[in-house]
Amino acid sequence: MQTFLVGLCLFHVVFGLDNGLGRTPAMGYNTWDDFRCDNISAINVMRAADGIVRQGLDKLGYVYVNIDDCWAVGRDNKTGVLIPDPKFFPNGMKPVGDYLHSLGLKFGTYTDRGTLTCAGRPGAQGYEVLDAQTYASWGVDYLKEDSCYADSDDHEVAFAQYALMRDALNATGRPIYFSLCGWHGWYSPVGMSLGNSWRMADDSGYWGAVLTAMDTNSRLGPYAGPGGWNDPDILIGTSEKTAIHLTQDQSRSMFSLWCIMAAPLLIGSNVYDLNAFDLETFSNRELIAVNQDPLGFQGIRLFGGNLNTEHNPSVINIWGKLLSDGGWAVFFFNNGDTTKDMTCDSKCLSEMGFQPTDIIKARDLWLHQDIGTFSGSFTVSSVPLQGGSATYKFVKQ
Ligand code: GLA
Repeated sequence: MQTFLVGLCLFHVVFGLDNGLGRTPAMGYNTWDDFRCDNISAINVMRAADGIVRQGLDKLGYVYVNIDDCWAVGRDNKTGVLIPDPKFFPNGMKPVGDYLHSLGLKFGTYTDRGTLTCAGRPGAQGYEVLDAQTYASWGVDYLKEDSCYADSDDHEVAFAQYALMRDALNATGRPIYFSLCGWHGWYSPVGMSLGNSWRMADDSGYWGAVLTAMDTNSRLGPYAGPGGWNDPDILIGTSEKTAIHLTQDQSRSMFSLWCIMAAPLLIGSNVYDLNAFDLETFSNRELIAVNQDPLGFQGIRLFGGNLNTEHNPSVINIWGKLLSDGGWAVFFFNNGDTTKDMTCDSKCLSEMGFQPTDIIKARDLWLHQDIGTFSGSFTVSSVPLQGGSATYKFVKQ
């Protein structure tokens, strides 16, 4: 028995992620869908940070400013230490982190568990300890580790490589949020032991990928909670100035659902100067509260099936997220080609534990208005087509 207990204890020490971070999903900004590789520079990252503060996004919780791929060009021949691109980061990375910290923000950066990053920059394989120490010395608070130039199908290799970086980060003594990026749902069952979040789907670079991320994530809720989250990728806005953008309805639906799914909220848009629509989307305090709810329950699909599948795809979905006050946030989604009236019927309500006789108060989380009470079923009229949605909070009276 004693041996068993000692064994368990060692297991915890050696294999656990215990950095105290990610008690609620991370919120911030990521450069990838804004700049790609072309314009990633200290100046642009600092401008993005200025934009976050100027528009009050930091006050809403968006504090991580995460530099994605393309900041590094090589390693020092003698020491092996990573070399930031001297043209775009002329003073290195630490001053960037210092600037972010001076604004009250947090500094995130990017690497890869393989030999190279996805854009062909140096990867961490074989350098985990050195790199973790380097990041800690620069004041890094968040590390995304990608999976290019590594065996992306061998689960055990992937877990072992991520464990190396996790342990190396832990050993620095600096709390660094660890964000895995392996693009598969099979990370979820072990995700919590390895990192604070794990990408469970491909890049959300177009609408079909957003739908697939929803479909995949609908099965993965039980693996998420305070300390570790399924990551369906960066939020997309509507600005045509960024590498990727969606329609207004789609972008708002994505934000609503990411809040319901307790997903990290990392803005992948032109955060220096968001257009008014995107600023309103990302600033929805009521939905941010849903996302950051301390219970950490990942929303579930209450009605409908997979949306991006060849066989009988659903065109409507209803999702719900249990909140710590006992209420539910409920998301009505229409991906069809006509506007739709949508009903959460008695079965849908019973999935949330509501009884047919319960009097339920409904609040519209986009109009920011209480819209009265109902019982038995709830119908939303004219949910917009092709990615439109409506989102409410239901509370039993
Ligand atoms: C992969 C990741 C993206 C981004 C790029 C950078 O595609 O999934 O999120 O980090 O690499 O090259």
